[in-house]
Amino acid sequence: MNDPAEFVRTAEESLRQQVPARAIIAASGGIDSTIAAALAERALGDRARAIFVDTGLLRAGEVERVGQLFRAGGLRHEVVAAADRFFSALAGVTDPEEKRRRIGATFIRLFEDEAARFGTDRLVQGTIAPDWIESGGGLRDTIKTHHNVGGVPSDSRLVLVEPLRDLYKDEVRAVAHFLKIPEPDRQPFPGPGLAVRVNGEVTPERVRRARVANAVVEEEIERAVAARQIALPWQYFAALIDARTVGVTGDNRVRGEAVAVRVVESVDAMTATAMELPRPLLRRIAERITRELAGEVVRVLYDVTDKPPATIEWE
Ligand code: XMP
Repeated sequence: MNDPAEFVRTAEESLRQQVPARAIIAASGGIDSTIAAALAERALGDRARAIFVDTGLLRAGEVERVGQLFRAGGLRHEVVAAADRFFSALAGVTDPEEKRRRIGATFIRLFEDEAARFGTDRLVQGTIAPDWIESGGGLRDTIKTHHNVGGVPSDSRLVLVEPLRDLYKDEVRAVAHFLKIPEPDRQPFPGPGLAVRVNGEVTPERVRRARVANAVVEEEIERAVAARQIALPWQYFAALIDARTVGVTGDNRVRGEAVAVRVVESVDAMTATAMELPRPLLRRIAERITRELAGEVVRVLYDVTDKPPATIEWE
């Protein structure tokens, strides 16, 4: 892509060609799908409907944040509450790739339903080049099944429309700037959401714990960044570990869960370095997580592993 203006013109034309009537857009609140939604709305107007799915696997405040982002960009969207469907699909599943497959399949079924309600079979997605390259469509071996790629089974009625397929992240940012769409100033968040930050079985209860722990890490890291105590990390989050461990509350020994805190520096997520954090900051994070999840999480670990050999996420 040389010129964002030229790209937007061509993309709108191509969207109008690929979408004879109406289309729904899979909007996650990330920059890619937000730009895809903006392009679809420019090209199709009322014939486009952006859908944001509340999977029950989102971070604290995510639904409100995405609403604000869309309003700031002058985009309409609809929120579909679907936590029950995702938790049923994930019941008893512990294998990370199986989690991604189930989540991908659930998204597809849900978008099929939403498309039928809106009277279309066209689904616009914000897939960008690294997504399909990493999913085994190109140069690299399959690293992780991205939920938004290859998830449409052959028996699906949905026809995918992917206006950003050939773009890289910096090009998407240039288009966002050109369209005056505010960039979500957040760290990357995996499509399968907190399901991959709950190592082991995914239950509403465990996801709630992961959500609280993630909120603590985000707040404390962002506060330390604002106070210039640390540089802004690439990603900072918490993962619930698939282990039971012993703690004490008052006079009682309790069996609870353990949380791993992960804060990494990176430029492109292909490699990453575990960040050195001030001890008082780590202590505060541990104190808050064990207090806000008293009796549920009794141990907090700091993950000091680089990528490679570890991945950024725990699963
Ligand atoms: P890993 O854990 O493979 O992560 O080192 C590299 C980057 O990708 C994100 N990630 C995902 N993103 N679907 C996504 O959309 C996924 O299934 C997925 N798994 C990992 C991760 O947060 C990091 O930024």
